[in-house]
Amino acid sequence: MKIFISGGTGFVGGHLMRELLGRGHELRLLTHRRRPVSEGIEQIEGDVSRPETFEEAVRGCDAVINLVGIIRESPFKDITFKKLHVQATANMLAAARKGGVGRYLQMSALGTRSNAVSDYHKSKWQAEELVRGSELEWTIFRPSLIFGPKDSFVNMLAAQLRMTPVMPVIGSGKYRLQPIHADDVARCFALALEKPETAGQAYELCGNDCLSYEELLDAIAAALGRTAPFKPHAPLGLMQLIIPIMQNIPLFPITMDQLQMLLEESVCDGSWQTIFGFKARGFKEAIGEYLSKT
Ligand SMILES: NC(=O)c1ccc[n+]([C@@H]2O[C@H](COP(=O)([O-])OP(=O)(O)OC[C@H]3O[C@@H](n4cnc5c(N)ncnc54)[C@H](OP(=O)(O)O)[C@@H]3O)[C@@H](O)[C@H]2O)c1
Repeated sequence: MKIFISGGTGFVGGHLMRELLGRGHELRLLTHRRRPVSEGIEQIEGDVSRPETFEEAVRGCDAVINLVGIIRESPFKDITFKKLHVQATANMLAAARKGGVGRYLQMSALGTRSNAVSDYHKSKWQAEELVRGSELEWTIFRPSLIFGPKDSFVNMLAAQLRMTPVMPVIGSGKYRLQPIHADDVARCFALALEKPETAGQAYELCGNDCLSYEELLDAIAAALGRTAPFKPHAPLGLMQLIIPIMQNIPLFPITMDQLQMLLEESVCDGSWQTIFGFKARGFKEAIGEYLSKT
């Protein structure tokens, strides 16, 4: 297939492009700025918020994949959930429709739902609604936290753990996550293109290791060959007063939106493994491989 991908230059995109190239697909990649890429990848310089920069390039493709997303808004730079989740999806869908492309894969996120609380999840839901309302043969994926050699979350915690054995935890730290490897997410996207029965479906993706935030910290410390860190607890009520004031400072590590999503947890039943026919990679084993190298 010839596949048009937006957001392919990011963390998950790297895994997805490798997977798709390995299966013999040809890729057309929307990039902000040209960069060196493997053979088989054609770059289209453009911006997902400016459809005129990529619409023509979608024509002639067999499938479109939209991976574009942000975890944190920068309104002063005009980087918002509305623009990059909702408007971007509308633009991608319109380009696919105009270009005569029938197949469409959308990256969403676990926890996205009609009555979502966080702005991230709300905007991902609005984007999903646009996809569901389209006439394309769509498939939506909602992963939990995605990990892999170049992820930001696990690597950020690992960097902190290398500097200090003290890791403050907001609230109880008992809220759970079920991380999934980026290779597994990539494989699901690639398999969806080969499985017509996945059209019209949304899949929740998670790994098989369900860890509380505290257990996640311990697992990362173990992967680094360290003992479990000391985890002082910052009272939730106090943090709910501090974060709204501090969150506009770009280097402040967490926003209210992200805290909301952490507290909601990010777990699922793993039934995607039956549909896609393979087992998720283990969290502890996989992070052990890449954290020991950095
Ligand atoms: N990582 C996770 O744990 C996780 C979990 C669940 C869902 N997701 C979703 O998975 C997707 C990919 O996440 P990721 O972790 O790979 O994020 P990432 O590394 O930040 O990648 C985001 C991609 O979007 C592109 N992009 C941003 N603004 C754009 C624009 N205006 N026009 C064109 N491209 C633009 C970026 O390109 P530039 O680098 O050139 O700006 C980059 O390729 C997102 O939709 C995210 O919400 C991620």
